[in-house]
Amino acid sequence: MIAPRILLIIGGGIAAYKACELVRLIRKGGGSVRCVLTEAAHHFVTPMSLAALSEQEVHTSLWDLKNETEMGHIQLSREADLVVVCPATADLMAKMAAGIADDLATTLLLATDKPVLVAPAMNVRMWLHPATQRNVARLRADGVTVLDPDEGAMACGEFGPGRLPEPPFIWGEIEKALDRPRAALAPGIKGGALAGRHVLVTAGPTHEPIDPVRYIANRSSGKQGYAIAEALAALGARVTLVSGPVSLPTPAGVHRIDVESAREMAAAVEAALPADVAVMVAAVADWRAEVAAGQKIKKDGSGAPPVLPLAENPDILAGLARNPRRPRLLIGFAAETEKVVDHAIAKRARKDADWIVANDVSGDVMGGDSNSIHIVTRTGVESWETMPKAEVAQRLATRIADEFA
Ligand code: CTP
Repeated sequence: MIAPRILLIIGGGIAAYKACELVRLIRKGGGSVRCVLTEAAHHFVTPMSLAALSEQEVHTSLWDLKNETEMGHIQLSREADLVVVCPATADLMAKMAAGIADDLATTLLLATDKPVLVAPAMNVRMWLHPATQRNVARLRADGVTVLDPDEGAMACGEFGPGRLPEPPFIWGEIEKALDRPRAALAPGIKGGALAGRHVLVTAGPTHEPIDPVRYIANRSSGKQGYAIAEALAALGARVTLVSGPVSLPTPAGVHRIDVESAREMAAAVEAALPADVAVMVAAVADWRAEVAAGQKIKKDGSGAPPVLPLAENPDILAGLARNPRRPRLLIGFAAETEKVVDHAIAKRARKDADWIVANDVSGDVMGGDSNSIHIVTRTGVESWETMPKAEVAQRLATRIADEFA
């Protein structure tokens, strides 16, 4: 790796002193680091020690960047290869999630076009608070890498998750972030037909719990959805992949959110909005157990099977079509075993999708590597010859990009 340039934003928390150790590790690892302190961080660590360790000027206020032509906040935010926030307080993450820019640190975070890595540190209750968890989910959906805090005894005497990960671990994550392909580093920013677009993809099956050990599922492997997510990222899109349980690696440059049930998938999709495009490839279970038993359901000895009342799951695709933040291009998949095109035409109209990619699953498609598809749009039907799932993905990604050309 050639000398990486890190912009280190230090938030105001008791863990701020560990930022000094991180500066030392970055320098030792061959990187250069420029430090920015928030107002609150001054109470925990001094600009003097950071300047000595980094051998660079330390910035503390928007107004000390006097010469805008020489070192304005835009330049400061862009000359780095990676922006690291360490420690990130609950307040700083809330501002980042909301897009607030009321001091130097938050202005740089809003103005940067570089990937951002966040190392949170706070009291356990603050970390677990729904507001913080919402902000973390928001930031991750925006393509920010938010590390999980360590668990253990805290400076405030409580115990649980919230401690800053140790500096050597953070340095390891920085190295990983710098090694990743460009698409992962700066989602949506590199060149490409879909640069600057946010695309949401759902993939895989959903698991609907019956009791703690049993669930309702289907045979979806997730392969087609993952291939589509990868092909879209390769065209420069910022891709959020909401995935049911599958055993596939996360494609390069894709931000993945794991869910289990249909209702979790619906919530993750809503949280990932707004998006320019949504490609709903997931094989969402149509039904769930009305009530998931808290304990394992036992045989009662009578020989009679238990009754398992089912409830219908929300239709995520149809819900997105009615959503006020409906993506401009909404694409559904339809797995059919007969009258493939007829069913797909009806399904497109019923769910109000822009396209339905109709999938002939009469052969070995679930888990297989090839797909035979028809694209039903508002105006007609395009039928493609049978081809490998990776090729379907690339052609579909290009077809999507054409819509935004
Ligand atoms: N879908 C969804 N939420 C559901 C069910 C399906 O978002 N609860 C989406 C799928 O991701 C896919 C499309 O809707 O993009 C079609 O799924 P399919 O299972 O073929 O449709 P169903 O509505 O279940 O119709 P069918 O009666 O044919 O099963």
